[in-house]
Amino acid sequence: MSGSKGIEVGLMGLGVIGSEVSRVLRGKADALAVQLGCDLLLKKTLDCDVSKKISAGIPDELFTTNADDLLNDPDISIIIEVIGGDTHAYNYIKEAITKGKHVVTANKELIAKHAPELFALASKHRVEIRFEASVGGGIPIISPLKQDLQANKISSIHAIINGTTNYIVTRMAKENIDFTAALKQAQKLGYAEANPANDIEGIDASYKLAILAMLAFRTEIRPEDVYREGISRLISRDFLYAREFGYAIKLLAIAKQEGDSVQVRVHPSLLPEDMLLAEVDGVFNAIEVEGDLTGKVIFYGRGAGPRPTSSAIVSDVLRIARDIKLGLNPKPQAEVTRVKKIMPIADILTRYYIRMTTADKAGVLAQISKILGDNSISIASAIQKEADEKSKTAEIVIMTHPAQESAMQRARREMEALSVVKSIGNLIRVED
Ligand code: HSE
Repeated sequence: MSGSKGIEVGLMGLGVIGSEVSRVLRGKADALAVQLGCDLLLKKTLDCDVSKKISAGIPDELFTTNADDLLNDPDISIIIEVIGGDTHAYNYIKEAITKGKHVVTANKELIAKHAPELFALASKHRVEIRFEASVGGGIPIISPLKQDLQANKISSIHAIINGTTNYIVTRMAKENIDFTAALKQAQKLGYAEANPANDIEGIDASYKLAILAMLAFRTEIRPEDVYREGISRLISRDFLYAREFGYAIKLLAIAKQEGDSVQVRVHPSLLPEDMLLAEVDGVFNAIEVEGDLTGKVIFYGRGAGPRPTSSAIVSDVLRIARDIKLGLNPKPQAEVTRVKKIMPIADILTRYYIRMTTADKAGVLAQISKILGDNSISIASAIQKEADEKSKTAEIVIMTHPAQESAMQRARREMEALSVVKSIGNLIRVED
């Protein structure tokens, strides 16, 4: 667009997301300029790997391996960070903010670990830091929590925010295959990394939940506050048994506010089959937010991938660019301090699914129900499965009424100590 000064952008990181962002910024340049009323110019891209310049199709003059070429360029007013991790990205973002540049990032680890410090720094230097792409890929959820739902007191978030694990549990549930086979499929399709720990142990989801809960409850939540269990203990029979009780199993990220305390946890959960979240399959994500005014609202869509993620990034860039163009002051970043207590997992009250292998003889169920009863845990239903003739073992699956986690864990230890109990195969919390 001629005749008006453009807004210049620096892009850090030319991996799959960065490459797509550069394609969108250049490919949609005319449409973005019309929307903005001036050009949005990709001034420079950064990657330590020169080969990325070729694979991303970046012309020589738009590429550098030296971050200073972006950080020290006074014409660049917005830095997009898609490097990931919290080492280089952390230093670059801090430096960009200190130099008065606005920042757009997709980096959930960084925001989850350093939000209070980065927000305070951004306020001090009167710049914005936006991070819509850090949770849920192309699903708008950060802006709704910050703005559109701000009249609400939010009581809970239930979310499927890791596509890799949702793909794995969907395959296990639908095809009756075991965890290792489903993980291999996910790796073959590029949904899971060669080292999948970050996803399957729930680490990625815990960063995202920390960000959502921080915004929803307006309190500092550190990643280590989030109680976390991954999906590797699940076996295909868990899905069959859960279905018999009318439930699906998902890796759920849960945040709840009760009085002046909040609970934040990521773990496999049984969900009633008729709940919308139970029907979110494959790599899709969904976030259900319950507000006192709205009731439940659900955000659903593609939670990862270059195109959805670049949608969130470029929209954040446009939001900042529009304010720059209009000469508006940046939106002050809300200060984040700890104003709520984190409820220890031992204090939560929930229902449980317990799967165990026991001796197949008289009196076993009586011993198990005595332990549960002594710990004030009431059985809602129980089934016995797959009695193995040769080893004289049985599989017992129990659903409980709500019980306190500390009581459940005590009962688990006591049941494990029984000679008739071979193993507690899984203990899964239920979200009704
Ligand atoms: N590994 C993440 C997922 C990608 O599976 O959802 C986006 O954070």
